[in-house]
Amino acid sequence: MGGGRLGSFLLRGLLRAGFSQGELMVCEKDPGRAEALSEQLGVRVVGRLDPLLEEAEVIFLAVKPGDLEGVLGEMEGKVRGKLVISCVAGATLRRLEGRLRGARVFRLMPNLACAVGEGVMAYTPAPGAGEEERERVRELLGRLGAPVEVPEERMNAITALSGSGPAYFSLVIEALAEGAEELGVPREEALRLASQTAKGTGRMLLELDLKPEELVRMVASPGGTTEAALRELEEGKVFEAFKRALKAACRRAGELG
Ligand SMILES: NC(=O)c1ccc[n+]([C@@H]2O[C@H](COP(=O)([O-])OP(=O)(O)OC[C@H]3O[C@@H](n4cnc5c(N)ncnc54)[C@H](OP(=O)(O)O)[C@@H]3O)[C@@H](O)[C@H]2O)c1
Repeated sequence: MGGGRLGSFLLRGLLRAGFSQGELMVCEKDPGRAEALSEQLGVRVVGRLDPLLEEAEVIFLAVKPGDLEGVLGEMEGKVRGKLVISCVAGATLRRLEGRLRGARVFRLMPNLACAVGEGVMAYTPAPGAGEEERERVRELLGRLGAPVEVPEERMNAITALSGSGPAYFSLVIEALAEGAEELGVPREEALRLASQTAKGTGRMLLELDLKPEELVRMVASPGGTTEAALRELEEGKVFEAFKRALKAACRRAGELG
């Protein structure tokens, strides 16, 4: 439900994970987006919710927080036995369950890397969800990235960290690439090198059991190039700025709820 930025990336991820176009359907009211989804992804696109409610077993909610109330109103009384996975920032299980009686409800905070099977898929089952159901959802989300079951009280912080995270890392990559460009590296090459460096760093931290500060020490030799760069970042109070940014995003997630 909702074929915008997240909805379209979820669809790409599901197709990449082996779901057929015939197994997927999206409800999108913006005509331009609807046409693009149909042309680019070949999935069935509907403008009204009813066909989705009639035919879908699993419904991902991917509309903006401001549009949720209207959508819940349309879904009320029509979702008995369905699995509803809400990706809406700030929308609590209590609110969702209150309106979606008879549905099995999960709250999910994914990120756009789900399109390439590298999403962070942080989810919270509604109280009472059975082990079989949790395992089924975990398996489904595992096809889009790393599924992580979390207590609901952590969702706003996780929204700020991994939900919004691709924007922070893209900003860092853009800044590094722009800097390299000013040093004579062609833009496309600079972006590719910076993106590969980000990807490699993430994999080292995940696969080599290294702590970030250990990796910094391993790259930064005394009097070397990296140390010169880290001094600039320290003077720019970049570390603190990232922490403040995260807290601002978490506060906003709370306000949206
Ligand atoms: N983008 C991310 O990286 C990300 C990551 C994690 C979670 N989320 C969550 O995912 C949700 C969607 O975010 P988004 O960035 O994908 O927003 P978006 O790009 O605006 O996508 C939402 C889409 O749903 C459509 N829509 C709204 N109400 C509808 C209705 N009743 N029937 C059919 N279509 C409807 C909107 O159309 P109109 O534009 O015409 O209203 C829009 O195309 C948000 O709650 C957000 O918190 C997003």
